Amino acid sequence: MKMGLFDKAPPLENPTHESSERLLAEEEGTLWTGNETSAPTCNSFAVCLFRASALILVFLVGALFGFQWRGDLDGLCSQHVSQYSTIIKEVGIQYSLQEFNGSLLKENIFRQDAGPDVDAAWESLGVNYRSVRIPPEDAEQSGLAADQVKINAKYGGGFPANVEGLHHLHCLNLLRQSLYYNYDYYHAKGEGPFTNNDYIVRLHVSHCLDIIRQELMCSVDSGVLGQVWIYPENPEPYVDFNTKHRCKNFDAVRRWAEKNQLPQDPPADFLQPPSEGDRIYSRMP
Ligand SMILES: *[C@@H]1O[C@H](CO)[C@@H](O)[C@H](O)[C@H]1NC(C)=O
Repeated sequence: MKMGLFDKAPPLENPTHESSERLLAEEEGTLWTGNETSAPTCNSFAVCLFRASALILVFLVGALFGFQWRGDLDGLCSQHVSQYSTIIKEVGIQYSLQEFNGSLLKENIFRQDAGPDVDAAWESLGVNYRSVRIPPEDAEQSGLAADQVKINAKYGGGFPANVEGLHHLHCLNLLRQSLYYNYDYYHAKGEGPFTNNDYIVRLHVSHCLDIIRQELMCSVDSGVLGQVWIYPENPEPYVDFNTKHRCKNFDAVRRWAEKNQLPQDPPADFLQPPSEGDRIYSRMP
């Protein structure tokens, strides 16, 4: 007779139920009554020394592994909380302590009124970099679907993509350019986002505002802002915005994105046309 995979096994002649129960009772008894023959003993100096050494060895090996792991805690943490991408693999995320420049009155280059200097400062952050290439083997893990836009195989293949963090900065830069006291300057210049008509500029600005809102909420900063006293003659409390933060290695990410930009003037057939069955949306998603 053949037995199917899910057929019930025939009952055993001598069920082990009873004997296993007895075994358990015996074991418990040994544990709790300190049976002389089987309880752990340390009855000679040599045995004691051996056991102590073994314990210490296990502890040391554990500690060694522990310290080894500490070395890559940054990588471990970033991989746990960030979307994977080629950046994680090729740049390697590291954290370092940085103090924010939170002064209300002390301006820096990023806060200046519209002009070439402040534009150059923002430009240097990589806000206008071209797309990079995500190799096919990283695509799925990086959240890219197989039917998304691809680069033609004869130009190296892979998927064109933009670094999210740099897009957020691009957006913040557009908000800066759209500030009531900067808007006229950039509108008159008519470059970048301002090449579009006013209606589209407006949608671009509110798109950017909302992306930054979602990003800030997504990674809500659980730190706190304390208060300091100002004005010795007549002390008043004031919020101290110069707080310390564990920051990712932004500049390494920026350099990678800069170096890996796709060509400035790609040939007409740079992108692979959509294949049979690839999703094509009827409107902007
Ligand atoms: C704050 O400003 C100083 C001096 O300009 C600069 O070196 C530092 O990187 C700034 N900190 C941050 C977090 O941007």
